[in-house]
Amino acid sequence: MRLGALELPKTAALAPMAGVADRAFREICREMGACYVVGEMASSKGMLHQNSRTKELLMAGERERPCAVQLFGDDPAAMARAVAIAEEYLPDAIDINMGCPAPKVAGGGSGCSLMKNPRLAGEIIRAARAATRLPVTVKIRTGQDAQNRNAVEIALIAEENGADAVTVHGRTRSQMYAPPVDYETVAAVKRAVSIPVIGNGDVACIESAERMYETGCDLVMVGRGAQGSPWVFRELDSWFRRGKRLPPPEPEERIGVMLRQIALSVKYKGEYIAMKEARKHVAWYFHGFAGAAEYRRRAGALSRYVELERLAGEIGGIYSR
Ligand SMILES: Cc1cc2nc3c(=O)[nH]c(=O)nc-3n(C[C@H](O)[C@H](O)[C@H](O)COP(=O)(O)O)c2cc1C
Repeated sequence: MRLGALELPKTAALAPMAGVADRAFREICREMGACYVVGEMASSKGMLHQNSRTKELLMAGERERPCAVQLFGDDPAAMARAVAIAEEYLPDAIDINMGCPAPKVAGGGSGCSLMKNPRLAGEIIRAARAATRLPVTVKIRTGQDAQNRNAVEIALIAEENGADAVTVHGRTRSQMYAPPVDYETVAAVKRAVSIPVIGNGDVACIESAERMYETGCDLVMVGRGAQGSPWVFRELDSWFRRGKRLPPPEPEERIGVMLRQIALSVKYKGEYIAMKEARKHVAWYFHGFAGAAEYRRRAGALSRYVELERLAGEIGGIYSR
């Protein structure tokens, strides 16, 4: 699909995930074949007092391109200033969050709450559009709840106000992350707008990606399905480009990729923060291993990278026997 000057192949993109899709994980996902990645949301108001956390959220490494930074906020002027600041970090696109249901975001009128206020949503998109020449995209849900699904209305507003694409997470705000995914509303958005539509929700394998592409969407986006499983992008890339199904990765490769991701995280964030955050990633990577419960318990106590290497060595030893 076309996104400004970018041409993205119809494979799969990595979804923004606060606390998960950091620079290290995004780089690994790109290396594994994600065609595009979106960073963790950053507060447009918080960014105005730039600090080290802002830098960490907005930093776009060369190895993760093409990539977008994601901003949230409920004030058009603050959004315009935040877009100008974000641009200094040289992202390939700016994504506006209109889907987050978390109380600290939606409770303040941002994220998914903006879908209840179409006029303000339009003003925010227009302000972002006017502040940059980069592609501007908007990520929405299907609506607030089953009785209030207005994704089509918001997507049309996004288009009218200059958005270059819209991502639809096929769930309502009240559903949070629970099934089922509403493919019909994703399809309705695709029929209604002429900008590209990215379909998101429970895509984690070839079959679920095929199902999402049946909506007519231009690209699928994978969130939780990539946690501890970034090779999902290699599988989808191989399938959609060459029609070839790849075998699942061997345990040695899974462990090797995990070590690389956490080593990158240590490089970018320092060992103390990286190893605290590594615990959940490591637990995801161990999913499906024999004895996973015990490994996950040990992952929960990690504080040094050498401890992870030791644990990986033990597990690798079992599998190479
Ligand atoms: C831990 C976590 C953090 C998330 N953070 C963000 C975020 O910062 N911005 C956003 O637009 N969506 C965020 N999401 C939503 C995902 O981008 C995605 O829309 C959702 O998980 C559905 O896709 P999936 O079923 O493939 O996981 C987050 C989801 C999870 C699970």
